[in-house]
This record gives sequence, structure tokens and C-alpha cells, in this order.
Amino acid sequence: MSKPRVIVTRRWHADVEAVLQEKFDTRLNQDDHPMSVAELQDALQTAAAVLPPVSDRIDAEVLGADDIRAKILGSNGVGFNHIDLDAARAAGLTVTNTPEVLTDCTADLAMTLLLAVARRAGEGERHLRNGEWSGWRPTHMMGTSVTGKTLGLIGMGRIARAVAARAAHGFGMKILFHDPFPPRDEDIAGLDATRCASPEEVFTGADFVSLHCPGGKDTYHLIGADALRAMKPTAFLVNTARGDVVDEAALVAALEAGEIAGAGLDVFEKEPTVNPGLLAMENVVLLPHLGSATQETRKAMGMRVVENVEAFFNGDTPRDKLV
Ligand code: DGY
Repeated sequence: MSKPRVIVTRRWHADVEAVLQEKFDTRLNQDDHPMSVAELQDALQTAAAVLPPVSDRIDAEVLGADDIRAKILGSNGVGFNHIDLDAARAAGLTVTNTPEVLTDCTADLAMTLLLAVARRAGEGERHLRNGEWSGWRPTHMMGTSVTGKTLGLIGMGRIARAVAARAAHGFGMKILFHDPFPPRDEDIAGLDATRCASPEEVFTGADFVSLHCPGGKDTYHLIGADALRAMKPTAFLVNTARGDVVDEAALVAALEAGEIAGAGLDVFEKEPTVNPGLLAMENVVLLPHLGSATQETRKAMGMRVVENVEAFFNGDTPRDKLV
């Protein structure tokens, strides 16, 4: 029996590409270029499965192509706001994502940003590399202590809970959270986490606010001028969720006005473009969407896509079916 045609829209971990080539009639994106709308449409028209990462926008325009032959979109990532699920359903596509396997890795990166911005790590490294360091002195680059402070979480899903565990057990932090779909008590046992009825309670009470909600229309610009003004002037914002949760222009204005102390950002409103106002600020740590970027995690994510697509072609329901 011939193997199903699979198109992988960007380069993936080499071990996963090898497995994909063994199991399916796989076409790779050899030069790793971002595919255009026309290329994505062509992929949907020629393959049985199309495997995009979270950086490909699979919107109503892409999914409006005539004669779509693909039956499954195996997305490589946990977030799925890059895919118009209604349009995918209408086009007869099954859509899957990769939950769980990137939880720890992304939580580690949220803590990296939190620590880096509080302890002025990015600024300190630039200072040293620029040859500006004149030696130890008592007043040099004093940052903000993390241990014992209050961490506020917007969203309390798997990644937020993993951040809470690191913060509570590693740094003795108190945890506040808001989630319209709160976790079960057993999922937050041992964290001494306080549930807040509104996001505002988190903004006003936290020394660090870390975002862990999905992107998309329900959370668009949740962190705007009002939210930023509600935060303590000594507080820091950390975003490893989705860029459009934060109104970047309002964030720049709040930082310039000293309404908050700093920000650690891994995601941006218009990736890969970053607001020039942020690029100019020393009290902001900026990373290029690295939340899940370890060898181990990227391999696990890719293998989870393989598992989903294989299940689909075997006539089973994929474990991570979204639609
Ligand atoms: C995801 O999976 O949604 C991340 O943003 C990419 O690691």
C-alpha cells in the first residue's frame, strides 16, 4: 500500500524528520523558508497531511483554497491560535496539537525571564561585553530579589502550574492566580496558591505577573494600559504565552512612565518584528520565542505529531485532536 503524502512546512528536529521519512511519503522544506499563502494552499491541495509549526498562519484565506485534499493538520506546538479551527472544520480537516511535552521547558523559560529581568542579567551582560565594567562596588546594578516575593499567574493551566511549582518550591514565592476555568484542587495541592476572582486582583497583588493564557480574541490586549497601571510600579511582567495578549504600545508607554519596573518577553504581537521601543530599553529582557526550544522538547513535540498523524491514518482518533 502506498504511504500517505505528508508535507512538513518548516525544518524539524532531524530525528523526527528521519522518522517522518520512514513512515510516510514525506516532503521536507529543505531551506526552511516560511511558506507563502500560495505554498500552504498548494500543500493542502497535494498532501494527505500538512504539518505546520505555530509560526504558520493557517487562516480562513489559506483554508479557503479549492480542492483541499489534506485530511489532517498536525500542528507542531501546543498553542493553536494560528489555525482558524472553524475554517479547518469546514474544510473537513482534523487538527491536532502537542500538549504536555513542552510544559517543563516553557516553565523553565518563564523562570529564566523572571530571574533575568529581576536581576538585570541582560543589561549586566551587555555592560560587561561592552567593556564598561569597572569592578565590584556596593551600588553597582542593584536589581530586585525574587525569593519570597509574590508571583501572579494569568491562566492556571499546565505551564502556569509548572511555573508555580518552580517559584513556590525553588524560590519560596507566594502564588496568586486567575483562570476563568480554574484547576482542580488536586492540581494545585502543595502550591499554597490563592485563587483571584479577577485578573485585576492578580495585577494589583503581584510582584511578578506571568502570562499563561491562550492567545486569540478572548485574551487580545488583556494586558493594556489599565492592567499595566494596576500593577505595582516595582512589578515585572513576564510573557511566554502569546504576543497579542499584551498591547505592546501600551507596554512601552507604561515602561517609559515607570508604571512597572520591567518586562521579560519571549513572544511578540507581530513576530518576528519587535516594537523598537522595547529594543531600546535596558529593563526589558527579550528572547526570540524560545519557550520550547531544547533538543529534547523539540524532538518530543515532533514525535507527538508523528503519533497523532499515524493514529489518524490508522483510523483511530488522534490523542491530541482539537477538531
Ligand atoms: C507553542 O507550542 O505553542 C509554543 O509557543 C511554541 O513552543
